Amino acid sequence: MEMNQMMSKLMLTVLLLSVSVGSAAHNGHDHGGSEANKTVIYRQSVFKMMGWHFKAMGKMVQGRAEYDAEDFQRRAKLVHALTQMVAEGFTPNTQDADAETALKDEMWYQKNRFDGLVKELQEASSELAKLPVTADKNELRKPLGRVARTCKQCHDRFRHPL
Ligand code: HEC
Repeated sequence: MEMNQMMSKLMLTVLLLSVSVGSAAHNGHDHGGSEANKTVIYRQSVFKMMGWHFKAMGKMVQGRAEYDAEDFQRRAKLVHALTQMVAEGFTPNTQDADAETALKDEMWYQKNRFDGLVKELQEASSELAKLPVTADKNELRKPLGRVARTCKQCHDRFRHPL
């Protein structure tokens, strides 16, 4: 390997190490710090962000916040991007995590059904994100409702009440 290449590889290693040490220190107590616990926290963070943006969108469509078409579309795209980050949070090893979780055990016996809802969430949110920024507020109600129904279906079936 060329010297330059070796140096940059080494520097990347050092950099990556410092990042991971940084986050462990930041966590303080990290529920044992297992990969499984980190994965549970990861998926909850994804849903938290999704909830944040989706709530803001809902408020606009319901007239509880001023409608800003560009901001709506920006959030719709973020929600859609987040839906693509969900699956990775449900690896089998998380069944043994001791981090608190609201996931019902039956998900593991109905994984196909769960995966189907993730897919539906991706499609519904993609439809919403693709609407032109010129769309009338009233045109948003139906696709927004489709997404909201998917959230609810999955929560009713696979999430313990929070
Ligand atoms: C395919 C199933 C599924 C879909 C679809 C889904 N969720 Fe969830 N959601 C879950 C599960 C399971 C949890 C609990 C995760 C845990 O505690 O480990 C959760 C947790 C949450 C949380 C709490 C996060 C926390 O820990 O603070 C919020 C907020 C949330 N979801 C919002 C949404 C919104 C908004 C949508 C739709 C845009 C949505 N979810 C769609 C399964 C789903």
